[in-house]
Amino acid sequence: MKLRFLGHNAWHLTVESLSILIDPFLSSNSLAACSPDSLQADFILVSHGHGDHFGDTISIAKRTGAIVVSIAEIVSYCTQQGVKSTLAMNLGGSVQLPFGKVKMVPAIHSSTLPDGTPGGSPVGFLITLKGGLRLYFACDTALFSDMKFFSGVDYAALPIGDLFTMGPDDALEAVKIIHPRNVIPCHYGTWPPINQDVQAWKVRVEKETLSKCVVMKSGEELSLVNSLLR
Ligand code: NI
Ligand code: MN
Repeated sequence: MKLRFLGHNAWHLTVESLSILIDPFLSSNSLAACSPDSLQADFILVSHGHGDHFGDTISIAKRTGAIVVSIAEIVSYCTQQGVKSTLAMNLGGSVQLPFGKVKMVPAIHSSTLPDGTPGGSPVGFLITLKGGLRLYFACDTALFSDMKFFSGVDYAALPIGDLFTMGPDDALEAVKIIHPRNVIPCHYGTWPPINQDVQAWKVRVEKETLSKCVVMKSGEELSLVNSLLR
């Protein structure tokens, strides 16, 4: 099981032979780890409609036949754009997929597709992989106290960029609520308005919490360690 950071909030999760992409914003991101044409995908999870998350979903789904997993409004939009394989969900719902269980959880943000179509509610994803490893992708969100329900996940990917999402202070509060074994900061540094000193944030996290802060560069891959084996 591997998690590769593709830049911003784009992720490539590999579980056995399955490829799962999350928020594949690549062709318009100068810091993206790869071009969308180079990726294989079996599933694409989309958190909300903004261009820096929806990204290359349509072209990757059409080329690969990947199943787009998203909230009903975004799935309808993808279908209208000619995507054949989709799975519509909504907040609080979960589904068992071949790589694990995906739960659609709240995010406090907004959601409009690049052409102005309303995208329903923005979401985050709580994923329980085969074997029990739990991952929380907060995606674009403000801090909210119900993050306590994701307490104890093995990996939490949290935005720290500020302006459009939580900034460093609120993301640190989120770590104190969630108590993840590992926290991976994301959604910073893509453009100057969301630049942050990620090493300073790592120092704060590791001084003030028991979580390990894993700073990933775009393109970097992490082997996910099963907490049940520790
Ligand atoms: Ni957004
Ligand atoms: Mn965003």
